[in-house]
Amino acid sequence: MSNLKMAVVGVGHLGKEHARILSTMREVDLVGVADVNAEQAQAVAKRLGTQAFSDYWPLLNLVDAACIVVPTTAHEPVAAEFLKRGISLLVEKPLAATAQAAARLDELAQQNDALLQVGHIERFNPAFEELQRRPLQPKYIRAERLGPFTGRSTDIGVVLDLMVHDLDLILTLAGSEVESVEAMGVSVFGKNEDLATARLRFANGIVADVSASRAHRSPLRHMHLWGPEGYAGVDFGQRRVTLVQPAAHVRAHGLDPAKLDPASRSRLKDELFTRHFETLVVDGQNHDQLTAELRDFLHALATGKPPRVTGHDGLRAVTLAERVLGSLRQHSWTGHPDAIGPNGMPMPAGPLFLPAVQQDVA
Ligand SMILES: NC(=O)c1ccc[n+]([C@@H]2O[C@H](COP(=O)([O-])OP(=O)(O)OC[C@H]3O[C@@H](n4cnc5c(N)ncnc54)[C@H](O)[C@@H]3O)[C@@H](O)[C@H]2O)c1
Repeated sequence: MSNLKMAVVGVGHLGKEHARILSTMREVDLVGVADVNAEQAQAVAKRLGTQAFSDYWPLLNLVDAACIVVPTTAHEPVAAEFLKRGISLLVEKPLAATAQAAARLDELAQQNDALLQVGHIERFNPAFEELQRRPLQPKYIRAERLGPFTGRSTDIGVVLDLMVHDLDLILTLAGSEVESVEAMGVSVFGKNEDLATARLRFANGIVADVSASRAHRSPLRHMHLWGPEGYAGVDFGQRRVTLVQPAAHVRAHGLDPAKLDPASRSRLKDELFTRHFETLVVDGQNHDQLTAELRDFLHALATGKPPRVTGHDGLRAVTLAERVLGSLRQHSWTGHPDAIGPNGMPMPAGPLFLPAVQQDVA
């Protein structure tokens, strides 16, 4: 069988990694990389021994499949041209900047019999994979995704940039409709929100609190899940899952402090996590997530089976992100209609600490 002819459109921070990995795959011919920044396209193409394009149009006649890694607001116009021609795509997350644009891409893929996969890469995080192997039925989920400002993805806010990862993961775990969304968010750097938090209520009783920031000192990506089976803590950065379950005697008889004798009751605090609750820390397998995602794309193309993250999943995540954005744009910081949305915070009352203290801290 001949190799799959592929290209990467947008070879900035992430796209150059797509191109690098594809260039090493035996079953792929990387026929070119395209970027409106011609110098960037040239530099990446030279390094990988492929052709550079400053426009993706010529690629429409050259490829069987492509990765679209341009800024989010350009996903729809660029991806649509490929899908219209039946060219299969891996489009980076989020699928598009609006639910309407995401729905159009999902539809185009179906109408033209093209595979559409979305780059929700955390589905390939070994820690999330490990979580999914455990029979936990989460009832309350808390997710936090915080990172420093990178200067990229300013065409969108933090909800579509970072929170969308957790929205996709939570939708995958919950397997139920979202009944209500209550959110707030604030802008730090521009017109879009850079900090956001949302409470989601699902029809099956699951409640999830999700927070994201791109104005944080250091990166942190955690999810906490509680269910009748116990607790799971997922550290996406460390790729580690911490599981806590009641010990066998607690599962069989419960643990009611009122029924314990005074000596056992006084030991309860010290023995809680040594005798009554068991803890297991599991490190996820050490694989590269982007390679796994690209392999999944090739596997779906070769077998005709759906990829792990379908176009429909991408649409589902953007649709929920849009509900979060709708709610946070309605949030009033003072109770008055002139203080609404990510730019509606009132003026600061003054510095939080005096310059002398600031010097000490620095
Ligand atoms: N899955 C993840 O974890 C993850 C991480 C980072 C970025 N992303 C997504 O990847 C996409 C790109 O992000 P990035 O950080 O690489 O941004 P970036 O700004 O570093 O790169 C985007 C590149 O696309 C080029 N470009 C813009 N418009 C183009 C067009 N019409 N045709 C060809 N090239 C064009 C730009 O010149 C730039 O080089 C975004 O959608 C972002 O949300 C996903």
